Amino acid sequence: MTKLPSIGQPVSRLEGRQKVTGSAKYAGEYNVSDLLYGYVVNSTITKGKITAIDTSAVKALKGVEAIFTHENRPSTAWFDLQYADMDAPPGTVFKPLHDNKIKFNGQPIALVVAQDFETARYAATLIKFEYEEEAFITGLVTNLDKAHEPKKGLATMLKPPPPPPVGDFEKAYSCAPVKVAAQYTHATEHHNPLEMYASTVVYEGKGKLTIYDKTQGTINSQLFVANVFGLHYKDVRVLSPFVGGGFGSGLRPQYQLFMAVMASLELKHNVRVTLDRSQMFTFGHRPQTVQNLRFAADAEGNVTAMNHSGIGETSSYEDYAEILTSWSHMLYPAKNTLFEYDLVSLDLPTPIDMRAPGGVSGMHAIECMMDELAYELKMDPLELRLKNYSETDPSTGKPYTSKALKQCYLEAAEKFGWDKRNPQPGSMQRGNKLVGYGMATGIWDAYQFPARVQVILTKEGKLILHNATTDIGTGTMTVMTQVAADEIGLPLEDITFDYGDSKKPFSMFQGGSAITSSTGVAIVAVVKELKKKIIKKAKGIKGSPFSDIKDEDIIFKDGAIALRSNPELALSFKDIMTLIKETELKAKKMAGPDVLKLKNYSKATHSASFVEVEVDKELGTITVTRAVTAVAAGRIINPKTARSQVLGSMIWGISKALHEETILDENLGKYMNANLGEYHIPVHADIHDLDVIFADEKDELINELGIKGVGEIGLVAIPAAIANAIYHATGKRINSLPIHFDALL
Ligand code: MOS
Repeated sequence: MTKLPSIGQPVSRLEGRQKVTGSAKYAGEYNVSDLLYGYVVNSTITKGKITAIDTSAVKALKGVEAIFTHENRPSTAWFDLQYADMDAPPGTVFKPLHDNKIKFNGQPIALVVAQDFETARYAATLIKFEYEEEAFITGLVTNLDKAHEPKKGLATMLKPPPPPPVGDFEKAYSCAPVKVAAQYTHATEHHNPLEMYASTVVYEGKGKLTIYDKTQGTINSQLFVANVFGLHYKDVRVLSPFVGGGFGSGLRPQYQLFMAVMASLELKHNVRVTLDRSQMFTFGHRPQTVQNLRFAADAEGNVTAMNHSGIGETSSYEDYAEILTSWSHMLYPAKNTLFEYDLVSLDLPTPIDMRAPGGVSGMHAIECMMDELAYELKMDPLELRLKNYSETDPSTGKPYTSKALKQCYLEAAEKFGWDKRNPQPGSMQRGNKLVGYGMATGIWDAYQFPARVQVILTKEGKLILHNATTDIGTGTMTVMTQVAADEIGLPLEDITFDYGDSKKPFSMFQGGSAITSSTGVAIVAVVKELKKKIIKKAKGIKGSPFSDIKDEDIIFKDGAIALRSNPELALSFKDIMTLIKETELKAKKMAGPDVLKLKNYSKATHSASFVEVEVDKELGTITVTRAVTAVAAGRIINPKTARSQVLGSMIWGISKALHEETILDENLGKYMNANLGEYHIPVHADIHDLDVIFADEKDELINELGIKGVGEIGLVAIPAAIANAIYHATGKRINSLPIHFDALL
C-alpha cells in the first residue's frame, strides 16, 4: 500500500498487470457478436481522377457483404456541412469517398466489408480502378519557390504565427563582429505507435452507436461521428480505455472511423475497420522542413541578432502549421529578431502533430546554430547559453511562472562530466572511435485545457472519478489516482479513476503534454467540492461532534474526517454514509487555466541534454553511448511514469537524429518505405546509457498543482545535442536529419 502523500512517489502503473497479461483490450480487440470486417483500399496514384471501378471479381466472392466507393457511398450530413474536428488546421477537411478526385497517394478510395478480415483484405485486391492521372508535386526542397503564408483559423489560437520583427535584424547582423548562418533540413517522419488504427462499431439500432476507437480524444471522435453522420451526440458513445501509443496521430479522427461508422449505419450491423501497418503511412506525419538561420553576437558573446526562417509542408486542402521559429527569442535576449514561417502545399496528406511538433524541429536548428556561434566565439557552448540566460521571456518581456533551466544546465553538465570535454573537434578518441560531447537546450509550452470531473463517494467510503480523457500510455490513470488520493486522504486502492469514455465529463484530446494539468487540476477542484459536502453532511448528523466545528478545523485523513486539534476524534466516510443513509455523495466541477492571472506571465517547460557519441573512424557509424537530460516541468507527480516519458522521448530524439526517415519518391509521389522493415527506428542495441534528472522547480503560479507536463519536453534538445556531439567528434557539421554514416565518410 502506498502511504500518502502519494504525489512524488514512483507508483507503478495501476493498469500495468492488465497490459502485460494481455487482458487490457484495445479498439480492434473487442469481441462483438455478428461482427463484419472492413478493409480499406488505397489509391495507387498521387493525383487525378478515378474514371472507372470494376468490382465484378469481388461480387462473386463468398463472404463479401458490401463494397463502398464514391459512386455508392451513403449520403451523410457531412457532405452538406463543413464539420472538421478539434485539431483541424484551417482549410477543408479531407472527406473519404467524397468524389472521384485523388489528392494524395494512399488516399482511401473504397471499403470492402466481409464476414471475416481475410476475405475483406483479399477482396480489396480484386477491385480494379482506372485513373486519369494529373501532374503533382510532393517534394519540399524542390518546390520552395511555391511557399505561402499559412492560412489563419481556429488552430491559430494554439499555434500562433511567429512574432513580428524586433529592432533591425539586417542592420545588426551585417555589422556584428561574430556571425553564423546555416540551413537545416528534416526528413518526413511517420507515427508508428504499436497499436494500429482501428474502430469497432457496435450498431445499437435507431442511429445509436457504441464505438471502440483508437483515439487520443473520445469526445473529439464522438463529436466528429455525430456531426458527420447527423446523429445526436448523445447517441454516439466512444470508448478508448487503452491506447497503444498516439504521439499525436490520434489527435484527429482517422479515416477508419469514418469508414466503420458509414458501413455500420448503412448495413445496420456491427463493423470493425482496422488499418494495417502500411496504411499507417497514409495519413498525417511530421512534415519535412527547411530552415534558414542567421545568428550574430558581440565580441563578449551576447547574442544580438537572430533570424529564423522556416518552411514546412502541408497538403493541398489544409494548412497545417507548426510552431517552428518562435522558440529562440523565448530563450535568448537578442535585440534584433526576424522570424518567418511559410508553407508549401504538396500533393500529400495533411501533416499532423508529432511529439513536440515544431519544437523539436525548430530547436534542432536553433541549438545547432548556437553551437556554431560558440565555436565562432571560442566559447564553451554551455557558457554561451549561461551568458545569454534570461529569467524573463525576452519575446514578451514577461516573467516566467517558473524557470529552472539554469539548474537543468548545471545538474546535467555535472552528472555528464561536461568539464572533461576538450573543445577541439576530433581531439577525443577511444580506440578507433572518435568521441564527441554535445549539448543543447529544450523548451516546450506548458498548456492547460478546460476539463470537467465528476466524483462519487460510495457508501463503502471509496472514491470514483469520471473524466473522458484517454490514457495513451503515459500513466494518466495512475497519476490522476495519486492526485485524488492526496486531496481526499484515501489510499490509492480505494480510488477508481474511470476514463476513456465520451459519456464521461469533458476532456480535450490527450495532447500537448496537457492532460495531467488539465484533468489533474479539475480533480483537485471537484474533490474540494466533495469535501465541503462531506463536512456539511457530517455536521448534520444528530449529535455530531463536528456540528460546531469550523470547516477549516476539520481535516481529511485515512478515509475519515477528523478534528485538526485532535485527530483521534474522527468519523470515517463509511460511517458518515451509513449515518446519513445515502448510497452516494456526488460533485461535478469544471476547471481551466487562470487566464486572467496567466496573461501576465510566460509559461514553458525547459530541458538540457548532454550527449556523448562515438563515431567509427573508418565506417562513419554513429553510436549515442550516453545521454543525460534534465527537465524542469514543475512538480513531478510520479517520478517513475514521468521518467518513462522522458526516456521514451530521448529514444525518439536519437531516432529523429540518426534513424527515422520516410523516403519519398518524387517521381511517384509516394512513400517508399511504408513498413517497419524499412522505416528505421532504434532497437535495443542502439540505446545505451540514458539518464533523466528532474530539476526541483516550484511553480506556484502555473496552476493549483504546480505542474507543467512531461510528455514532449524530453525530446526537444536531443537531436541538436547529437548533431553538436557529432561535430565535436568529427569536425563535420551535418545539418540534415537523420544523420547517417555516409554523411561522415
Ligand atoms: Mo502530442 S503531438 O500533443 O499527441
